[in-house]
Amino acid sequence: TDRYCVFGNPISHSKSPVIHAAFAEQTGEAIDYSAIEAPLDDFAGAWHRFMAEGGRGANVTVPFKEQAFALCDTLSDRALRAGAVNTLVVGADQDSTHGDTTDGVGLVRDLFHHDVVLKGRRILVLGAGGAVRGVLEPLLAAGPASVLVVNRTAAKAAALAADFQDLGTIQGGGFEAATGQFDLVVNGTSASLAGELPPLPETLFAPGATAYDMMYGAEPTVFLRWASGLGAMPVDGLGMLVEQAAESFLLWRGKRPLTESVKYGLRLDLQ
Ligand code: ATR
Repeated sequence: TDRYCVFGNPISHSKSPVIHAAFAEQTGEAIDYSAIEAPLDDFAGAWHRFMAEGGRGANVTVPFKEQAFALCDTLSDRALRAGAVNTLVVGADQDSTHGDTTDGVGLVRDLFHHDVVLKGRRILVLGAGGAVRGVLEPLLAAGPASVLVVNRTAAKAAALAADFQDLGTIQGGGFEAATGQFDLVVNGTSASLAGELPPLPETLFAPGATAYDMMYGAEPTVFLRWASGLGAMPVDGLGMLVEQAAESFLLWRGKRPLTESVKYGLRLDLQ
């Protein structure tokens, strides 16, 4: 049985062990997947201990994605772009660490499962932190007409957009720059956690638009409630969580699990 885990702090509420146990059962892979709370000041120590004990790979969540990035021997192109790692893979030598990030692919696959078309569409992204940086490359790769990133701190959005200039039509600014209508609005701020809504015009959504919140919970976030009231289709981040997990599982085991029943189970558990 090969060992995997998710590192975070805090970590007790993580759904990842349940998700990966379901993937293992479905694919017949013999893996053991646990949750480990790493100390805030020594992620590298926790990872190297896990590796020394025979660990084959890990997921990494808040607040360790940048520390994980820093300790990798090799990195995927998409992890380099994101500046963060959510998946660690131990080399065949059981000594080297490869880093990758599956968050962005997870978002794009979940949007695909919801029949959301990205090609040729106008996309608005709220927020300019690590969560947003991690998803911009696959969003741009899907061929939207444009991506506008807006943030409370406008300069951060402008800097982020500048970093992804070469991948497509992308601009950044403050919330007041969000003018016109968008086919997809992705909330990547942590404002939902505080129950807050970024200041945005009610005319934001084009007919048939989708509102996506990277957060999820038993109740719709304040952003999704607001968006549904304006006629947009609300989608929360539960699907993204399962899709990024499936992509990590694929990296470790070479098999891509089916995600639909796992999402359904998690949704039932939430209620
Ligand atoms: P994460 O890893 O979740 O992206 P982060 O890097 O700290 O965390 O980024 C948090 C994001 O949420 C930022 O875009 C932040 O805006 P600032 O850059 O201006 O700080 C945004 N955010 C947090 N709380 C917010 C609030 N109450 N209203 C609007 N934006 C908020």
